[in-house]
Amino acid sequence: MLERLKQKWGVSAGRLVLILVTFAVGGSLSGIAAKKMMSLIGISQAALYIPLYIIVVTVIWPFSVMTVSLFTGQFVFFRQYLARMGSRMTGRKKKTKPPPSSPKNITIFASGAGSNAQKIIEYFRNSETGKVALIVCNKPKAGVIKIAEESGIPVLLIEKKRFTEGDAYLPELRAAGTDLVVLAGFLWKIPQALVDAYPRKIMNIHPALLPNYGGKGMFGHHVHQAVITAGDLQSGITIHYVDEHYDHGDIIYQAACPVLPGDTPEILAARIHQLEHAHFPKVVEKVLLKQS
Ligand code: GRF
Repeated sequence: MLERLKQKWGVSAGRLVLILVTFAVGGSLSGIAAKKMMSLIGISQAALYIPLYIIVVTVIWPFSVMTVSLFTGQFVFFRQYLARMGSRMTGRKKKTKPPPSSPKNITIFASGAGSNAQKIIEYFRNSETGKVALIVCNKPKAGVIKIAEESGIPVLLIEKKRFTEGDAYLPELRAAGTDLVVLAGFLWKIPQALVDAYPRKIMNIHPALLPNYGGKGMFGHHVHQAVITAGDLQSGITIHYVDEHYDHGDIIYQAACPVLPGDTPEILAARIHQLEHAHFPKVVEKVLLKQS
């Protein structure tokens, strides 16, 4: 049962405990609040049961769990959970589109170890929705190049002047049939020419909860160090569309994890990587399905 919940919500065992604690404490607080209200109004329980039940479910319980989630560091989870519940209660179902007729081409920009690129490549290996058609990299020695080669995916090595001041390698991207650009650990700013050529078709993953800890210079351990120094109780990931500013476009998805006492930037980075690997490929798939 617990294992099923872990998989369903895509969370670690530790986070699952915090989520269940939030449910339990939030639920108890709602019960206490409901009892208090009944004794304050002083009408018979039977007459009040239905309206009170509605108020508890729609107002008091959500308010209690959201408040408790601030203390357990699970705010982002519960915000998304309640949004899902809300659309179920109002009958607004998300339209699930069938997969596109032929897989869309994903071009990944990466210049680091490439663990996220690897997860995306694996996820789409037998997919009807998308396939990784090209890896773009600006560092000849980056780990992602080996990953691409082992997976038989072509690599395009780029240099800064042509990328930022020239044609942004649009001819090569178009030749690869690029439908979606995914930035997975790519540090250069995306030039206007590329943003214009792929409006809302470029997405990035950032290892913190934007809008905090984003912008120029906020990458890798700098982000995690800033979160730890600030004493934040939670951090997480943000997947967002890319515009011409660093870490700025509309947010597509966020997931949080706790920052624990004694965390170093390396420990926090490892926890965040797990979160990225669990969610990034699925979010890429959702964006592809939206486009088709
Ligand atoms: C990830 O933490 C990502 O959020 C950030 O860069 C890192 C890339 O890691 N933008 P990897 O190269 O995918 O392992």
